[in-house]
Amino acid sequence: MAFTKTSKLLATVAFTSAIGSAAMAQEVEVLHWWTAGGEAAALNVLKEDLASKNVGWQDMPVAGGGGEAASTTLKARVAAGNPPTAAQMLGMQLREWANEGALGDLSSVAEENNWAEVVPAAVQEFAVNDGKWVGAPVNIHRPNWLWINAEIFEAQGLTPPTTWEEFNAAADKLQEAGITPLAHGGQPWQDATVFDDVVLGIGGPDFYRKAIIEADMDALGSDTMVQVFDQMRKLSGYVDENFSGRDWNLATAMLLNGEAGMQLMGDWAKGEIIRADMVPGEDILCVAAPGTEGSYLFNTDFFGAFDVSEESKPAQMELAASIMSKEFQEAFNLVKGSIPARTDVAPDNFDACGQKAMEDIVEAADNNALLGSMAHGHGQTSSVQRAMFDVVTEHFNSDMSSQDAVEELQIAVESAML
Ligand code: BGC
Repeated sequence: MAFTKTSKLLATVAFTSAIGSAAMAQEVEVLHWWTAGGEAAALNVLKEDLASKNVGWQDMPVAGGGGEAASTTLKARVAAGNPPTAAQMLGMQLREWANEGALGDLSSVAEENNWAEVVPAAVQEFAVNDGKWVGAPVNIHRPNWLWINAEIFEAQGLTPPTTWEEFNAAADKLQEAGITPLAHGGQPWQDATVFDDVVLGIGGPDFYRKAIIEADMDALGSDTMVQVFDQMRKLSGYVDENFSGRDWNLATAMLLNGEAGMQLMGDWAKGEIIRADMVPGEDILCVAAPGTEGSYLFNTDFFGAFDVSEESKPAQMELAASIMSKEFQEAFNLVKGSIPARTDVAPDNFDACGQKAMEDIVEAADNNALLGSMAHGHGQTSSVQRAMFDVVTEHFNSDMSSQDAVEELQIAVESAML
């Protein structure tokens, strides 16, 4: 890292006084859920960039990984007729707000800066609604990573698992050695992140597409889905006894400090690794979640632009233009752990995990294996997603059989689609 902790601190102090001054000609109010250490550090890159353009920042943080709490607050703000200038949104949310007619139009800034040519098609599918750009994509995250504490694996003579059988064998060995195999926080979105990985790892990309994205009843009720819940049951035995309700970054901390051997989590975990001065790909290994090499689950954080007053529009446009600049996309994503939402940013400055992500996404897109993550708002509508979360979490925290879970899943999804 080019910045030492002291210079980071100084930069933050300088920035805070800058936004506090009356010199800012315009201001954006932004609702987001980036409150963990690595997330806040990445957000500072954006705040500083805007400050340098004389755009002030009014912060509206709503803590809670995955953004559930932020989504509830956002709904209340919009219902009260007081939307922020922009809000962090996952793909389906962006689509749903656009369909409600709540969003403005960023097309002029998009055209001026050729977004259509540099943003991957899978991301544009969410960013463009009815021919209009309604949000600016900040990044592309990959939720199907397995993070491994290299020192622990070496000490135990283990190699990174590539299948769920190998994962279970490694986890058994760690458990015998008194190490928590899986760092996990028992929150519905984290359970669902793991579930997405298991569905993809056991069923493969075509099965994931059918069962999750198409919500096909036969796929949801299949033997493959029974096997998925069998593996979820194994995983529920590999977490520590205090897992319930734990925030994701605290689970990542367990991995970093050697309390746990592995974590199944999106690459926002890399933001925490970097902040702990550890090296992604060396101290903490990154491999595709078991059985998912060649496939890429993705989610993008968009800044959805609300239909604001004329006087707030210039600042909103400036925010969108800044987010999409090549320089910003590199600087931000180096800190956030994701890869740029533009295809023309060189991989050179990214670490080994970032470079792998950049290669893997191209391969997956070529093989029809680039798929929206259900857990992170790109695989299903919010009502079907909620139904899936409920069943997955209920199963994880009870002794429900795999067969019963599959039946509950079908019923819940069917009624959410009505
Ligand atoms: C977002 C990430 C965020 C993570 C944990 C995901 O849904 O896309 O930006 O870091 O949740 O809060």
